[in-house]
Amino acid sequence: MFTAVDIIRAKRDGNALADAQIDWVIDAYTRGVVADEQMSALAMAVFLNGMTPAETARWTSAMIDSGTRLALTVDRPTVDKHSTGGVGDKITLPLAPLVAACGAAVPQLSGRGLGHTGGTLDKLESIPGWRAALTEPEIQAQLASVGAVICAATEGLAPADKKLYALRDVTATVESIPLIASSIMSKKIAEGAAALVLDVKFGSGAFMKTLDDATALANALVSIGSAHGVRASALLTDMSVPLGRAVGNAVEVAESVEVLQGGGPADVVDLTLALAREMLSLAGISVDPAVVLASGEAYEVWCRMISAQGGDPTAPLPRPGHVHTVTAPADGFLSTLDAYPVGVAAWHLGAGRARKEDPVNPAAGILCHAKPGDRVAAGAPLLELHTDDETTIPIALARLDGAFTIADTAPAARPLVANVIR
Ligand code: URA
Repeated sequence: MFTAVDIIRAKRDGNALADAQIDWVIDAYTRGVVADEQMSALAMAVFLNGMTPAETARWTSAMIDSGTRLALTVDRPTVDKHSTGGVGDKITLPLAPLVAACGAAVPQLSGRGLGHTGGTLDKLESIPGWRAALTEPEIQAQLASVGAVICAATEGLAPADKKLYALRDVTATVESIPLIASSIMSKKIAEGAAALVLDVKFGSGAFMKTLDDATALANALVSIGSAHGVRASALLTDMSVPLGRAVGNAVEVAESVEVLQGGGPADVVDLTLALAREMLSLAGISVDPAVVLASGEAYEVWCRMISAQGGDPTAPLPRPGHVHTVTAPADGFLSTLDAYPVGVAAWHLGAGRARKEDPVNPAAGILCHAKPGDRVAAGAPLLELHTDDETTIPIALARLDGAFTIADTAPAARPLVANVIR
């Protein structure tokens, strides 16, 4: 017979928990037998003393077993992608239809944004009529007919994580590698894909600020995948600069459509293709995604995917009531553009939410007219601030103070993908 106090004490004193202790505490917490204050103490003990890879894998299994696991019935290989989140990270939008157009089935159960990073569902909800909530039969049917689904996680998926994540958020226990890794992987494994590519971001706009921390998280994620029979690999990607030119909701949808129609910023295209290649390789499909993207087939899948969820892929996207342009103060090269303040400024303009229940403004966001390395002339537009609430503009401008620098020489190019962990 276990007690929460014994388990908290064991972890507090630096011991590894036994499988049965982990199974019991996660199950008892999900059922409300272990109280929030006890789970908070255990989460803090884990935060301070860590967990071994074996404990982390078992913690993940227990969180998966707290709910239902989707049993995908499609006859194509299933593969998914998860990003740890960043500024302007709209890659799921072009990637899911592209990989489906290459022959895989992509069940992408996504979340909403909290804080300065955006959420995939918030972005897609700027498309008139589009619906995030699907039932399990609807997910299965759309995967079979279209090959790609981007929707909200169903209620029964890893309920222990839903409770624990909310608790970690208010107890300063989010930034723990075993807790982050088990949280992400419990949801992704419960979603049922046979293979998973992780886009683990590092830099100012990411959760993990350094490549070393991101590498440790990537290793933990990939090793949980292996322990659960899910083929997993991780790309470590730079998030010190916003991805692409658009940061927000409708503006990111528009940029994703440009990519699907053969245009779009080079970094968004490059990362979409790098992740698609990795996903297809794990799925055992030898198709060149660049050829499929250029053929327009991925755009066709996008239109079918949006329509299947009630959206009109040809409808005009919401436009902001107010636009404010920040111009270059001098001639030169844009040397830095810091992702974090750009994300925070977009959030103040209305693109993000402070609390889970808050709405987001679909038209709010920022367009970056220049990226590091671009030559700029004094007075040329650098950043375009979009909002429906004019009073947010001075606040966003204050957050953007120091967010960019202009220099006489171009900065050294930084690789977007720093490493791959398989
Ligand atoms: N994303 C998750 O799903 N869980 C975490 O713990 C952190 C980021």
